[in-house]
Amino acid sequence: MDGQTARHSLQGVASLPGDKSIAHRALILTAIADGSSTISGLPGGADVQSTRDCLRALGVKITDPDDAGVVSVEGRGLEGLKTPRSALDCGNSGTSARLLCGLLSAQKFSTTLDGDASLRRRPMARVVAPLRDMGASIDYLEQDNRLPLRIQGGLLPFTLHKPEVASAQVKSSLLLASLAAGTGCRLLEPVPTRNHTELMLAYMGSGLQIRDGLVELPPGARLRGSTLCLPGDISSACFLVAAAALLPGSDLLCENVGVNPGRLGFITALQEMGADIELLNPQTVAGEPVADIRVRHAALNAISLRGARIPGIIDELPLLALVASQATGRTEVRDAGELRLKESDRIESTADMMAALGLTIESFQDGFAVEGPQHIQGGLVDSRCDHRIAMTASVAGFLTTQKVAISDTDWIAVSFPGFRQLLERLVK
Ligand code: S3P
Repeated sequence: MDGQTARHSLQGVASLPGDKSIAHRALILTAIADGSSTISGLPGGADVQSTRDCLRALGVKITDPDDAGVVSVEGRGLEGLKTPRSALDCGNSGTSARLLCGLLSAQKFSTTLDGDASLRRRPMARVVAPLRDMGASIDYLEQDNRLPLRIQGGLLPFTLHKPEVASAQVKSSLLLASLAAGTGCRLLEPVPTRNHTELMLAYMGSGLQIRDGLVELPPGARLRGSTLCLPGDISSACFLVAAAALLPGSDLLCENVGVNPGRLGFITALQEMGADIELLNPQTVAGEPVADIRVRHAALNAISLRGARIPGIIDELPLLALVASQATGRTEVRDAGELRLKESDRIESTADMMAALGLTIESFQDGFAVEGPQHIQGGLVDSRCDHRIAMTASVAGFLTTQKVAISDTDWIAVSFPGFRQLLERLVK
């Protein structure tokens, strides 16, 4: 770390909670598989619980996780979901809302989908418009483009999807709709995004293939009950990786982390900035690439990121802004307007967080620029009810000798319960 007196280093071995993105897919796909499945490493975060509770309300039997996050799911097959008694509450989870919207568009019953105040502010047209094109009947109950919405089944065979937004949630929603409708589909993305849904569909026997970027799901595809072992969450690991990269004397090993290329943007960006990061023991588990990540402190230089590199680092961009403040030179991120549509407007909330820490950042409509190195001061950071802002500010707290206070750290439990305790344990 430059320009700063760090109090600590990060040392030891960390096990991360199971991957949140993969966990949503594991629950949904095993719920509509033929036969029972076992999922291990299911994370305890609130977002994944939202998906689990919605599926339970649709009649799927899912056990409570044991200490290793092992749950059993009794798959109901493609036709077996039941009419829920009341509106399905997706809580704070955009992935639950978008993916379930696709799945429910192909059911014979109608459902209402809703979420918390933050999720009710996030756009739904990105899935609703293409699902309506497929023949789904979906009505916004209060406001255009927002939850709550009412979904009725009735999908038409659809040959080619070309989603306009580069979003794994949109892609997955359309794949789930086509799977549940039995129609199959072909899908071409504007820019590649994380492919967890495709990998899991292929692993569970759907016959899905990917050729030259074209995803092909055959008509009549079904899923078989499976054993799914979830890797540690790379997005959660990135907070520890960033802290270790910035704190002199650090040497940290994050074990058994998912290293899907669609999620590695932060790691590759840090490596390009000069970070000492190695991926060790590469393996494939249930179709997903997994490795241990070793990181040691090194001086960092600035980087520029835009275009097709953005989806692979989208969730880590607030953290990158903090890291950039400690690197030498001007880091610039563009083409990241999607940040404005996350749990908070993450261009605004990142800028406010940086200002609260005494750091200068230039904001654009589609990104930001940070000149480093700068001195981090203590201050009060408003988490804006956003788990990733609260975790980024927690990392900042270890980079300064002054006190960093954070409002509403409870939101961290959306993705990483126990994060602050783990960080404390690794700090020497
Ligand atoms: C996710 C995809 C990304 C990401 C979100 C999780 C997923 O959103 O930001 O945290 O699990 O599919 P978009 O698909 O909207 O980019």
